[in-house]
Amino acid sequence: MNTEQPKKELSAIKGTKDILPQEARLWQIAEAAAKEIFELYGYRELRAPVIEPTELFEKGTGASSDIVTKEMYTFTDKGGRSVTLRPEYTPSVVRAIIEHRLDLQPQPLRFYYIGPMFRYDKPQKGRYRQFHQIDIEVFGEKDPAVDAEIVEMAHRLLRQLGVENVTTMVNSVGCKKCRPAYGAELRKAAAAVKDRLCPDCQRKAELNPLRIFDCKIETCREVASNFPKITDFLCAECQEHFQEFLGYLDFYGIPYRVDPTLVRGLDYYTKTAFEIVAEHLGAQNAICGGGRYDDMVREFGGPDLCGIGFAMGLERLLSVAKIEPPKKSFVYFAYLGEEAKKQSIATARYLRSEGIECLVEFKDRGMKAHFSRANKIGADWVLIIGEDELAKGKFQLKDMIDSKQYEGTAEELAKIILLKDKKGIKSREE
Ligand code: HAM
Repeated sequence: MNTEQPKKELSAIKGTKDILPQEARLWQIAEAAAKEIFELYGYRELRAPVIEPTELFEKGTGASSDIVTKEMYTFTDKGGRSVTLRPEYTPSVVRAIIEHRLDLQPQPLRFYYIGPMFRYDKPQKGRYRQFHQIDIEVFGEKDPAVDAEIVEMAHRLLRQLGVENVTTMVNSVGCKKCRPAYGAELRKAAAAVKDRLCPDCQRKAELNPLRIFDCKIETCREVASNFPKITDFLCAECQEHFQEFLGYLDFYGIPYRVDPTLVRGLDYYTKTAFEIVAEHLGAQNAICGGGRYDDMVREFGGPDLCGIGFAMGLERLLSVAKIEPPKKSFVYFAYLGEEAKKQSIATARYLRSEGIECLVEFKDRGMKAHFSRANKIGADWVLIIGEDELAKGKFQLKDMIDSKQYEGTAEELAKIILLKDKKGIKSREE
């Protein structure tokens, strides 16, 4: 056997990680909960490819966003086309709607998706280069009630996964009508204090001063806190939308904090923007972010279809979730000889068809070795098949927790296992 450690260059790429079976169980539970909840609200899964044409994100996510300017995994494929590993999901859904004319279906349209996203940012706690999002999008619903409904849906999922101590930050970033006047004021304010901003923000001051609010550098944050606030510039329509949104949040009983500096790092938002942040997560504390983007479909040449959605980061979500994996029991087969081995295979096949997890191992072992193996791997039951059992057509089933032993046919033993499992009285972890 080769016991040499794998060479360093064979480890996972920086900012990516393996999700090993024990952890993957938690992922499965979170993903199943999300799917179940989204379906309850009428969402259906839409799966788009991991790679997309680069221009989809340049145009959709936004040319001045950090994601597009610094963080995209972009390369030229063998056909000479520039492709990008998606950094987010929203533009992909918009593309799919236009491509498949989903807008011709009755609206609103509700979609969800769970999968990997890629951003070439500096890896740190809670920030990965391959990370996973739970994403939902709604199209064709202008009513601010839906803005509140998706926030409520996010909260339902968080509650179900035992996430506590979260704060919901909300804002309105205005629309095409009211933002230009605000942008002009902001540009003026940023120009006046340019020398106090970091080099990156100095560039943003000219390109898109709204992005200065995203900067994590303390001095920039302090300077930005004195900038004019978007909420003072909203047009009547945006103002009314925002107030109604807040009213529905009150109606749902969801506590929130209005943060006029919350502009989100993507260029497409209009009106509602929100983030759900978790305590104790440090700098990367946003577990969910989203908002309205009423212009994106039209800007891609599609119909006039408003949109709103959010994405949750699964890694961050799981780092604050309290998930108890369900207790699943399994049967280990202890057999002696070739005949009994075949009988074990057949019996396991039957038990699995009854929904019982079974493990038949093929290493030649004596009975004692079988039991020590069963103990080591935490088997809840051992099904014993020796010569006597073969002759009788009845097997011994040992409960490894209370050491009780039962005799019966495969059908009789299946009933015992299922009954005990159902009552939830069996588990190594108890
Ligand atoms: P976002 O704020 O860029 O929004 O990302 C949403 C969430 O993804 C974040 O709150 C965070 O939990 C997680 N996330 C983002 N980057 C990373 C990373 N490098 N490592 C780990 N987790 C990360 C969007 O992506 C929008 N598409 C959301 C949206 C949907 N807006 C409308 N519809």
